[in-house]
Amino acid sequence: MERLFNFAAGPAVLPESVLAQASEQLLSLGETGIGVLEHSHRGDAFAEVITSAEARIRRLAALPDDVEVLFLQGGASLQFAMVPANLRDDQHIANYINSGTWSTKAIEAASATGRVHVAASSESTQFRDLPGPPVLSDAPAYLHYTSNNTIAGTQFPIPPSRPPGVPLVCDASSDILSRPLDLNQHDLVYAGAQKNLGPAGLTLVLVRRDLLQRGPTQLPPVLRYATHAAAGSLYHTPPAFSIYVTELVLEWLEEQGGLDVVAQRNRDQAARLYDRIDTSDVLECRCDPAARSAMNVVFSTGSPETDQNFLSHCQAAGVVGLKGHRSVGGLRASLYNAQTDAAIDRLLEVIDAFEAEATA
Ligand SMILES: Cc1ncc(COP(=O)(O)O)c(C=O)c1O
Repeated sequence: MERLFNFAAGPAVLPESVLAQASEQLLSLGETGIGVLEHSHRGDAFAEVITSAEARIRRLAALPDDVEVLFLQGGASLQFAMVPANLRDDQHIANYINSGTWSTKAIEAASATGRVHVAASSESTQFRDLPGPPVLSDAPAYLHYTSNNTIAGTQFPIPPSRPPGVPLVCDASSDILSRPLDLNQHDLVYAGAQKNLGPAGLTLVLVRRDLLQRGPTQLPPVLRYATHAAAGSLYHTPPAFSIYVTELVLEWLEEQGGLDVVAQRNRDQAARLYDRIDTSDVLECRCDPAARSAMNVVFSTGSPETDQNFLSHCQAAGVVGLKGHRSVGGLRASLYNAQTDAAIDRLLEVIDAFEAEATA
C-alpha cells in the first residue's frame, strides 16, 4: 500500500526508517526472542532503551546536569494539572501567558486548584499574534507559556523574559526538539510525544532538580515529579512502546545532524509554504508574519466550501491531514521534524493546480 503525504497535527508523520525498524522488532527486540511490546519494563532490554533515550535527549538538547528527564504518561493535559500541583502553594500565584487554545486549557486546569494570573494574552486578536511582554503578579509561583500554538499557528521565536528567580515553564508539545532548546532559560519543559518525538502515550518532562521539592507535600505520589525522578521514571509501568519508538526517533534526529540541522530544514520547509500562500490569489495566512510557526502553517481560502474543495484536491493527490482544528476551521499543514521535502513539493503542486483551476 502506497503511503500518503501526511500533514496531520498529531499524532503525526514519523520517519519511515523508524517505522520499518519498529515493525521488525515487534517479533523480537534485537536478539532477545521477545517482541518489544512484550518486554518487562524492569528487564535489561528495556533498561537499555530508556537509558539510551535519556542520553540522546541530553546530547541533543545539551541539557545541564541539574535537569531531570522524566518519561511520564497522561499527555500534556495531565501536565496542565501537575505543574500547578507541584510548583504552586497557597502563598503563590501561577502566572500564565495566554497565546492560544492550549494555554487557555492550561489556565483552566491551574484555576481549578488555586490562584492564577494571566500575565499577557493575545486573545483579543484571536491569537493571530503573540502577546506582549508579560506583567507578572505579586508572589509568582512560575511563569508558564506555550512555545508553539498548534491551533493558532504561532510560535515564540525566543522564550519570554521574566524577573530573575521566577521559574519559566514551557508547554513545548508541538515544537519540542524541532530547534535547539535552551534549558538554561527554562526550569520545566513538557511535551506530549505525538508530534515531534514519537507515538502518543509518552509525555516528556525536563525539570530542574531544585524544583522537585517545591509545592504541597500532600500530593498523591503518582502526581509528584519527585516520585518519578527518584524512581527513574519506573514508579509505575511507563509507556514502554512509545519510549522505544521515541528512542529510534531520537537516534534518527542525531543521524540528521542534530537540532541545528533539523531546525534549518523546518524553517526552509515553512518558508516555502508561507511564501507560496502569501503570493497566492486563493489562499491566505492571517497570522502576524513575525509570529508564524515553523511547525503548523495555518491558512485558508476564506470560505468553508472552498476549503473543503481544496481538501478534496489534496486527497486526490495523496496529500492528507490538512483540515484545520475543529474549533477554528480552515486549513493547517503540520511540518514536524519528520515531514519530508517530497511532501512539501507535492503540496505546492496541489496549490498550483488548485489556483490555476480557481482563476481560470
Ligand atoms: C501545545 C499543545 N499542548 C497540549 C496539547 C494536549 O496534548 P495531549 O493530547 O497530549 O494532552 C496539545 C495537543 O495538540 C498541544 O498542541
